[in-house]
Amino acid sequence: MISGAPASGKGTQCHLITNKYGLVHIAAGDLLRAEIATGSDNGKRAKQYMEKGQLVPDEIVVMMVKERLLKPDSKENGWLLDGYPRSLSQATALEALGFRPHIFLLLEVSEDVLVERVVGRRLDPVTGKIYHLKYSPPETQEIAARLTQRFDDTEEKVKLRLNTHHQNVESVLSMYKDITVKINGNVSKEEVFAQIDSALTSLIEERKAASGSV
Ligand code: AP5
Repeated sequence: MISGAPASGKGTQCHLITNKYGLVHIAAGDLLRAEIATGSDNGKRAKQYMEKGQLVPDEIVVMMVKERLLKPDSKENGWLLDGYPRSLSQATALEALGFRPHIFLLLEVSEDVLVERVVGRRLDPVTGKIYHLKYSPPETQEIAARLTQRFDDTEEKVKLRLNTHHQNVESVLSMYKDITVKINGNVSKEEVFAQIDSALTSLIEERKAASGSV
C-alpha cells in the first residue's frame, strides 16, 4: 500500500515499483477518473466531490476498489494499492473483506513542494505516463503537444485536497502503524525509489526467511 498527500509522488513511484516487482497497480483516483469517462451516474457524482477536493462517498469507492482487488491478476501477482484507504471507514471495509497489506509506504513531502508538483504535472493520454514540466519533461515535441492537465490540478484545488488529506490521514495511519515505512519524498524520483526498493527488498527477505524458503 502506498500513501501520501496529493502529488507526493504515489503514481510516479507505483510505475517504478510495478516495473520491478510485477504487482498490479490499483489507484483509486484512476478508477474514479475512468468511471467519470464512461459518463455513468456514479462517475458524475464522483466528479462533483473531486472538483471540491473532497473524498468521494464510500459506496462508490469501496465497491470499485473491491471489484478490482478481486480480479484474477491481483490475486495472482499481488497488488499495490494507491490512494486507498483514505479514511478509517475505508480501511475497516478493506479489513472486513480480508485484504491486509504487508507494508504501508508513506511518502512524506513538504507542502510547498506539493503545490509546485501539482501545478507542473501533465499526463500523456496515449501512454498514461506522468510528466512534470520542470522535473520530468516530455521526451519529444510530439508528446509535449498532446499532454493534458487534470481538472483538479490547480493551486486553489490542491489546497482543498490537502485539507481533506490532513483531516483523514491520522486515522488511516493508526490502522497500519506496525507496518508503516516512512519515505522521504522530497528528493528526486530515483532517490525516492531507492528508499522504497530497499524497504521492499527487506520485506521480501523477511517473508522468505519466515516461510523457511531460504
Ligand atoms: P488521486 O488521483 O489519488 O490524487 P491525489 O491523492 O491527490 O494524488 P495525485 O494523483 O495528485 O498525486 P501522486 O501522489 O500520485 O503524485 P504523482 O506521482 O502524479 O485522487 C484524486 C481525487 O479523487 C481525490 O481528491 C478524491 O476526490 C478522489 N479520491 C481518490 N481516492 C479516493 C478514495 N480512496 N476515497 C475517496 N475519494 C478518493 O506526482 C505529481 C507530480 O510531481 C508529477 O508531475 C510528477 O512528475 C512529479 N514528481 C513525482 N515525484 C517527484 C520527485 N521525486 N521529484 C520531482 N517531481 C516529482
